[in-house]
Amino acid sequence: MPTVQITETVLRDANQSLIATRLPYADFSAALEKLDAAGYYSLECWGGATFDSCLRYLGEDPWERLRRIRKACPNTKLQMLLRGQNLLGYKHYPDDVVRLFVKKSIENGIDIIRIFDALNDLRNIETAVDETLKNGAHASGTICFTTSPVHTLDAFAALAKDLKSMGCQSICIKDMAGIMGPQEAYDLVAAIKSKVDLPLVVHTHATTGLGFMTLLKSVEAGADVIDTAISCFSGGTSQVATETMVYALKQLGYTVDIDEKKLKKINDFFKPVVAKFLADGTLNPTVMQTKTDALVYQIPGGMLSNLVAQLTAQKKLDKLDEVLAETPKVRADLGYPPLVTPMSQMVGVQAATNVLVGERYKNVSKEIQSYIRGEYGKAPGPIDPELQKKVLGDTQPVTCRYADLLEPGFEAAKKELGSRAESEEDVLSYIAFPQQAEAYFDARDAKKKNTFTYSIEKVG
Ligand code: CO
Repeated sequence: MPTVQITETVLRDANQSLIATRLPYADFSAALEKLDAAGYYSLECWGGATFDSCLRYLGEDPWERLRRIRKACPNTKLQMLLRGQNLLGYKHYPDDVVRLFVKKSIENGIDIIRIFDALNDLRNIETAVDETLKNGAHASGTICFTTSPVHTLDAFAALAKDLKSMGCQSICIKDMAGIMGPQEAYDLVAAIKSKVDLPLVVHTHATTGLGFMTLLKSVEAGADVIDTAISCFSGGTSQVATETMVYALKQLGYTVDIDEKKLKKINDFFKPVVAKFLADGTLNPTVMQTKTDALVYQIPGGMLSNLVAQLTAQKKLDKLDEVLAETPKVRADLGYPPLVTPMSQMVGVQAATNVLVGERYKNVSKEIQSYIRGEYGKAPGPIDPELQKKVLGDTQPVTCRYADLLEPGFEAAKKELGSRAESEEDVLSYIAFPQQAEAYFDARDAKKKNTFTYSIEKVG
């Protein structure tokens, strides 16, 4: 029977999905040795929202966190999630910044970079992939899963082929909304596996309850690696439980080189951590529930709750059904973008606006306008010509890779920061999240001053 490997997400996606990425280093540092010994394919521990959260909420230097994890986990591959040309944010960064960010991520300890673009526009990931390869790390080319008339099995398999031609060493199917069903997963994995001989990774969420079945069918179709989270950090908006998948796969005869006793130790370690976040309200127990509305409406759970919140705030919750009916129409008009951040918010807001104003596209949001101008990349399918004309008028959309229009950014940012930056990593933190990085630098300076005064007093 084939071997199945596991990527453990507790430090990144599980942390991000259940407790809004509020896990401080101190809360998991003593688990690193255990995580390193379990036999995981990789430990997803950086990127995504962890970087922002370190600076914004935790008073931590994200680079320092990475170096510490690296030091404590010499035997396991460390993995990060990167949004292609958007790095860890929502706008396009110039190539020099993307290259240095990737280079420094690898220098500080990352082995595998999972690189994706929300529109599956591969031009938005090529620089990051190229730089990953140049620095001897593993580029995992990622396909965002969605369903639409233009997202056929053939189209996905062709994407996977293109990722391989770019040099990616594995392919990841990323179902960020947890709406990929077991049959869809089986067919998609089989279609990609039949065309591309690279290790295939499947990422999904437990939100709708499909997760275990989806991963099992993925493995049956030939998936090599699956993403799971240690059980006390699993379920709901997080991944499915590591121990459960390992148990089932071993029972079915698959080779899984994971030590269950070590998994138990990891889970025992994290139980009180979860309890603490439950007690202080950071972890809302409802996010761990199975939520099936996404299956009825075919839109991600997070997007649904955003729509409800938006309509409630405007005292228009009675319009929800109309907005839900409008949402797929807006998505179709825009050429079926995958409903992932930031597209899910953009499509949702536009659908609500169309309904509340009482006339479709009377107001078109700024973000949707730039999407139609091609500033996010190429739409998966054709954009409705009338809507396009309305937004563009006589101007032409951008058809080149948007980052080609951007001036280099690193040197300018370095100058701006001056002596406040202690390293190139500091400059990159500042470029990614200027206000949060500056606040962090201030706190760091203040801390140093205090320690300095303290030591003088002590000596004196
Ligand atoms: Co995810």
